[in-house]
Amino acid sequence: MSGWVVVAGLGPGDEMLVTPEVTAAVDQATDIVGYIPYVARIAPREGLTLHASDNRVELDRARHALEMARDGKRVVIVSSGDPGVFAMASALFEAYEAHPEFAATEIRILPGITAMLAAAAAAGAPLGHDFCAINLSDNLKPFELVEHRLRHAARGDFAMAFYNPRSKSRPHQFTRVLEVLREECEPERLILFARAVSTPEQRITTVTLAEATPEMADMRTVVLVGNSTTRRVGPWVYTPRGVAP
Ligand SMILES: C[S@@+](CC[C@H](N)C(=O)[O-])C[C@H]1O[C@@H](n2cnc3c(N)ncnc32)[C@H](O)[C@@H]1O
Repeated sequence: MSGWVVVAGLGPGDEMLVTPEVTAAVDQATDIVGYIPYVARIAPREGLTLHASDNRVELDRARHALEMARDGKRVVIVSSGDPGVFAMASALFEAYEAHPEFAATEIRILPGITAMLAAAAAAGAPLGHDFCAINLSDNLKPFELVEHRLRHAARGDFAMAFYNPRSKSRPHQFTRVLEVLREECEPERLILFARAVSTPEQRITTVTLAEATPEMADMRTVVLVGNSTTRRVGPWVYTPRGVAP
């Protein structure tokens, strides 16, 4: 039997948000590969081998998946949210590009619901006009680039979604992010801290930029920053669809 590699997004947490396409791929798999908490979401069964690994080993994990597919296995690499959003799909293609011996491998990328969209839906429609997503981690890029993109997104009046906002090893960086926003935006700008979206621990806190503190974010939080027209209506937050000429 010929092998394949699927990179699948498991969504933000709620099993109801896993697509039927992803469930079907997992059902057909012989091997599941991924970061420990994501592999833990897959129910063990006979004939299925779970390969859980730590984070920061994405390229090794991708090469391992390609090797197993070459040997006839049906491999699903699991990501949270969507696999193309700061996740394993790009890592797989980096490994694929670096190893021409895997050129004939059958590869499919199966989308999932990314954290910012689940958070936006839970809050209303804060990303209803033009927006961008920025990974605040400096693991794979210098923090100066984060700051540069953030400042220009704010000047362009984009709404923004921040992934990986604040870890224990770099708490000062989110402090700097708030400083840059305060230099570029008005104090009334709305910010949403959406933690553990679609899980029983979900908590969404909406504050103004003036009220925001670094401690409101952690690595289970996606932060949404409205544009200059984003507003509250009842319990909801939304961004109007248009901008007057
Ligand atoms: C390595 S990125 C993976 C993103 C994922 N591929 C996605 O599309 O959502 C991890 C970051 O995603 C965000 N995140 C993932 N799941 C989340 C959830 N259920 N609630 C809030 N934020 C989440 C957090 O910012 C976290 O630090």
